[in-house]
Amino acid sequence: RRRPRGKQWVQEYTLPVRREDTVLDCLLKIKRTVDPTLAFRYSCGHGMCGSDAVAINGTPTLLCTATVGDWAKPATPIPLADGEGFRRTGDAGDKRSADTTAPEGNSCEDNAGAQSHELGIIELAPLPGFPVQRDLIADIDPMLDQIRKLKPYLQADGVLATTSEGKVDVFEYLQRPEQLAKYELLSNCIACGVCEGACPVYAGGDAFIGPAALISTSRFVNDSRDTATDERLDAIDTADGVAACQSVRACSRHCPRGIDVGEEMWQIVARVRER
Ligand code: SF4
Ligand code: FES
Repeated sequence: RRRPRGKQWVQEYTLPVRREDTVLDCLLKIKRTVDPTLAFRYSCGHGMCGSDAVAINGTPTLLCTATVGDWAKPATPIPLADGEGFRRTGDAGDKRSADTTAPEGNSCEDNAGAQSHELGIIELAPLPGFPVQRDLIADIDPMLDQIRKLKPYLQADGVLATTSEGKVDVFEYLQRPEQLAKYELLSNCIACGVCEGACPVYAGGDAFIGPAALISTSRFVNDSRDTATDERLDAIDTADGVAACQSVRACSRHCPRGIDVGEEMWQIVARVRER
């Protein structure tokens, strides 16, 4: 991985939350009421834009669809030699306590009833495999550049449709439902980078074009209207393309759009090899 620049530390925030709150809700609450300097990225707030991918408890996923109830885990003390690299909001000099039952403890608390109890802790980090810009914001430009390089747009010969008077009406790109079904799911990719963050080969550096770019290629290769299949397969038939995929399939596990990324990768690799 690239060596991150600048100071790094872990910062603890304790706040009352409900199990059904999303992790994004928690961060917004922190930003509005505790620490306005905390930086994270989001846009739609409901799993459609892909801008808020981070690592939650080490697993790449979206902030806005992850709930406290699903991700809070029992608090365990972080071993710290000298307090460096760890900050508790409101008490910068205090070291983390192993007493997880303290009222001002180390966790999210459930305040739904009079008797609040600890829900546990949630650990957040920027999306792995990408340079960190600030706090939880990773720079995903390398992924977007790779997707752009593979021409993520339809290259097709349209059918000229004319009106009853013989005038040019519109170019139509005709397709049957079963042809649409071959790539429809792939077109739901929101370029969130979760698959890239989970991929151990991509996280190793720039040597692999990455699953998101290959999903983008696969989407057009499977589109019956696209006429650039050979060029697209040539573009990924490289040492940093399909040849670098090790079929670990970690990319499949958490795609928020339900794409079986590993299976799609396997199919596009087979397509390249069959030529
Ligand atoms: S394939 Fe899934 S995990 Fe990967 S970038 Fe697209 S939506 Fe995100
Ligand atoms: S904020 Fe848009 S996907 Fe989470």
